[in-house]
Amino acid sequence: MAEKKVIAVLGGTGAQGGGLVRAILADKSSEFSARALTRNVNSDKAKALAQLGAEVVAVDIDNYESIKKAFIGAYGVFAVTFFWDHYSPEKEIEEARLIARAAKDTNIKHIIWSTLEDTRKLIPLDDKRMPTLQGKYKVPHYDGKGEANKIFMDMGLPVTLLNTSFYWENFIYFGMEPKRGEDGKIYLNLPMGNAKLPGIASEDIGKSAYGIFKRGKEFIGKEVGIAGGHLTGKMMADSMSKALGEPVIYNAVPFDVFRGLGFPGADDVGNMFQFKHDFETEYCGARDLKFSKSLNPELKNFDEWLKENAKKIPLK
Ligand SMILES: NC(=O)c1ccc[n+]([C@@H]2O[C@H](COP(=O)([O-])OP(=O)(O)OC[C@H]3O[C@@H](n4cnc5c(N)ncnc54)[C@H](OP(=O)(O)O)[C@@H]3O)[C@@H](O)[C@H]2O)c1
Repeated sequence: MAEKKVIAVLGGTGAQGGGLVRAILADKSSEFSARALTRNVNSDKAKALAQLGAEVVAVDIDNYESIKKAFIGAYGVFAVTFFWDHYSPEKEIEEARLIARAAKDTNIKHIIWSTLEDTRKLIPLDDKRMPTLQGKYKVPHYDGKGEANKIFMDMGLPVTLLNTSFYWENFIYFGMEPKRGEDGKIYLNLPMGNAKLPGIASEDIGKSAYGIFKRGKEFIGKEVGIAGGHLTGKMMADSMSKALGEPVIYNAVPFDVFRGLGFPGADDVGNMFQFKHDFETEYCGARDLKFSKSLNPELKNFDEWLKENAKKIPLK
């Protein structure tokens, strides 16, 4: 049997990378094998991946030599950065630069960069609709990733730029779950007006990345986007009502109110929602559902995701 082509997966123990590692390992006839990269090869998550058959290798994504070592012998790389660990677009850009250099120096044949739009292309810094943050960004956790796209392209790397979507798991783990009001009713509080929000089961991001690797050269040099559904707040609340067996009411929070909520990154996330709202056509258009399904036939829609996950939503 021909030797399998190794895919080195940054964030291998996390949401996006973990989905890719599991997708590769679940496909017994795969032409690929999975190398999960982690800061701690002894963590429970890392051990669980090793048990499933992944090669588990240590990496420090702020150290070029460490990344290079982790990429040696690999055919492909899945690259993701971790904005919410530090809130710094500059750090993400610098990490992207190290990753790109290491991919170049180890002759990687295909790299997928998990990215998001540089929102400043559609809403320049002098546009007063939303505040400018950290001096030079509109949506810091988007703009840094989008700015880094150029690094991969300019280095002539065989890159696919993968625009991801809002994880529906945010309704479980990120404090965005529907909440009971003082009137005893359950409210889904989101600043999306009546616009559609592209969302996805986070596990489907890795499965889609696997679909991209399987299609060989087809998406090299291209920018693609994925989502499992485009839903308004009302549509999501209606689906939640059915899944939870209790009415959930959509509450369209004003953007400024959301930005002022005071949790770390509230202004960034508030601008993000306003961007998705104000540029609904462009943002949804960049995440075609049929295309996403073609990459990953197991792609879940919101109702399917709820069927498996509604019980995990921490309703108080
Ligand atoms: N939440 C959303 O809706 C959403 C949507 C689209 C895009 N994103 C983006 O997704 C990115 C995060 O990806 P994810 O959700 O897959 O991550 P995640 O699940 O939070 O974490 C991924 C893994 O990366 C490792 N890690 C964390 N911080 C690290 C660091 N500073 N250096 C090296 N490794 C680190 C951790 O593994 P070890 O401890 O094993 O090293 C962790 O298990 C963010 O940049 C975010 O902007 C999020």
